[in-house]
Amino acid sequence: MKIGIVGSGVVGQTIGAKLVERGEDVVLGTRSPQNVSDKRGHGKSLEEWLKATGNKARVGTFADAAPHGEIVINATSGTGSLEALGLAGGDHDLFVSGNDAAAKARVTELLRQWFGWRNVIDLGDITTARGAEMLMPIWLRLWGALGTPMFNFRIAR
Ligand SMILES: NC(=O)c1ccc[n+]([C@@H]2O[C@H](COP(=O)([O-])OP(=O)(O)OC[C@H]3O[C@@H](n4cnc5c(N)ncnc54)[C@H](OP(=O)(O)O)[C@@H]3O)[C@@H](O)[C@H]2O)c1
Repeated sequence: MKIGIVGSGVVGQTIGAKLVERGEDVVLGTRSPQNVSDKRGHGKSLEEWLKATGNKARVGTFADAAPHGEIVINATSGTGSLEALGLAGGDHDLFVSGNDAAAKARVTELLRQWFGWRNVIDLGDITTARGAEMLMPIWLRLWGALGTPMFNFRIAR
């Protein structure tokens, strides 16, 4: 499938690499596609990222990436929480919020099929995203306390 990732930071890079690994046709978008040697936030340089994907992906502008995608993933700054980033293994929960039920169902399906999430909890409409955003402060402090970001949240009932 053709995937456009709008965002070149660690989130876009991580999701993009996983999708390339799955055999998807990925274009990663940035405002500066010509600048491949600078490190991107907490991510790699785009040169290193392309190499890590076996040069199977492409880098372009946001305007290249978005129309390329049958699915477009927004991984730009300031758009909310993607707390699933980089986590693997174990049994844990992810949260979704949104006003468009069909879009939310599609995202939930893709989270399960593409990334292997088993427990996706629908919190409700978009106002509930505020709750998921508030996970970041506790997540950061747990990272400090545990000395690793390789953990996630599990809701015990
Ligand atoms: N990093 C994490 O661990 C983490 C964890 C949870 C949630 N998130 C969320 O996930 C999203 C992506 O995070 P990230 O760390 O990968 O990247 P980020 O540093 O938050 O954002 C990088 C992307 O945002 C674009 N960008 C920044 N300012 C912009 C502006 N004024 N206009 C247009 N584009 C702009 C950058 O464009 P260029 O490519 O041109 O530089 C780049 O593609 C954010 O919303 C963040 O809050 C991140």
